[in-house]
Amino acid sequence: MDYQNFAQHDRVIDAIANYYETPPLAYIHSFGCQQNVNDGEKIKGVLLALGYGLTDKAEGADLVVFNTCAVREHAEQRVYGNIGALKNLKLANPKMMIAVCGCMVQQKHVVDKVRQSYPYVDIVFGVNAIDTLPRLIGDRIRTRKRVLLDPVQRTELVEDLPIHRDSTFKAWLPIMYGCDNFCSYCIVPFVRGRERSRTAANILEEFRALVQSGYKEITLLGQNVNSYGKGLERPMDFSDLLAMLAEEPGDFRLRFMTSHPKDASRKLIDTIASHEKICNNLHLPVQSGSNHMLAEMNRKYNVSEYLSLIEYAKKKIPDMTFSSDIIVGFPGETEADFEQTMDLVQKVGYTQLFTFIYSKRSGTKAATLPDDTPYVVKTDRIARLLALHEQFAVGYAQSLIGKRFRVLVDGAGKRPGSFSGRLENNLVVDFTAPCDLTGQFAWVKVTGNKGILLLGELDSLA
Ligand code: SAH
Ligand code: SF4
Ligand code: F3S
Repeated sequence: MDYQNFAQHDRVIDAIANYYETPPLAYIHSFGCQQNVNDGEKIKGVLLALGYGLTDKAEGADLVVFNTCAVREHAEQRVYGNIGALKNLKLANPKMMIAVCGCMVQQKHVVDKVRQSYPYVDIVFGVNAIDTLPRLIGDRIRTRKRVLLDPVQRTELVEDLPIHRDSTFKAWLPIMYGCDNFCSYCIVPFVRGRERSRTAANILEEFRALVQSGYKEITLLGQNVNSYGKGLERPMDFSDLLAMLAEEPGDFRLRFMTSHPKDASRKLIDTIASHEKICNNLHLPVQSGSNHMLAEMNRKYNVSEYLSLIEYAKKKIPDMTFSSDIIVGFPGETEADFEQTMDLVQKVGYTQLFTFIYSKRSGTKAATLPDDTPYVVKTDRIARLLALHEQFAVGYAQSLIGKRFRVLVDGAGKRPGSFSGRLENNLVVDFTAPCDLTGQFAWVKVTGNKGILLLGELDSLA
């Protein structure tokens, strides 16, 4: 592992210190999902170990790192726009370095574009190369040449990277990397590579350290957590891993994402039901309510299988809430297909819904399908879907008025002097309290709502 090559590491620290006149500052911006944000936290950890300080803006930074996302075209356009905006900063400060990493640069055509169109980008490195960053910065300083790595798929897992977490009470904990599912629209398996699970021992060690340092909410991460454990020397399924962590001593809350409906099992629901510390909230992305679309998307489940798991969960855990991702306007989606999605959303009643207009990703199977639904039809469908969802979610929020909930306090609220807390079901309550309880659990009484935002007052401490 590159990072553990300390002799070289020390040389890089000296090289960085000599390169800049004053102690250097780094700005890291992560554009993507929670996995991507967690990678950004590791990049911060590595940079701190190299002697950089952290700043929260590109202006004045000596190193800017853009940790990118490739999941939709819009995400990529944002990154290009942001790189373009650095040109003037670089002109004003020629010693400033710009690094681009993450999922976008796992695509050869993106690295080529950066090489040709953005000559002021200094370093490009892929998603599984964070441990090589010291060497890349060292090479950039020593050779004065750009260090742009072409994408490679590295399969080994790098443990023990330093990490600087964005929060002192909420933590992301990756349990697996990559994805083997190849949903026909999705770029993730191409950019993140094959599924690799961390060992239960390594996960447990990180988990215990988090609980001991006072983390109150730990979210297990993977593109498909329910296929955790494949290929491990000691295979373990996700439910068993979850149960093992939930049985650890300490006052914490456990979440996980994402569950693929084809792999989420009744055993998973039973495990949630029997452990207090696992939040009664399931993110189970359905993508579409049409069996035809689901087959075209290569999702490997049908609507009745999906609904039967939801029904089982509702029976077993009456206060269980659900959230989902839906793609609108997949190639060939008809009005009838879309109405089946509306129907499913109505039946399940999601408290949170993340909706996306289909975005063509080159290299995926769906990119070859004819897509002749006009864009306005797609935006109209998404608006109808959101209206239907909001109706349910607001009704759900109203049904909580008068009840008490244990919330994790996130920080300042929307009203002067109020605080914001998150319920187990992921709803947010804006509440009044006589003292700042950020980072702690508190009991809050819900007194009203403003749309899906709950309003409340402090009832009692933890
Ligand atoms: N592994 C997770 C998350 C994948 S990315 C999962 O399977 O749910 C998060 C969401 O982005 C997906 O659930 C999907 O709804 C959406 N998405 C992925 N590729 C997309 C594309 N090409 N166009 C539009 N939305 C997409
Ligand atoms: Fe993409 Fe499907 Fe894998 Fe999720 S499960 S990351 S949607 S291929
Ligand atoms: Fe984006 Fe990569 Fe996550 S493509 S959604 S940052 S896995």
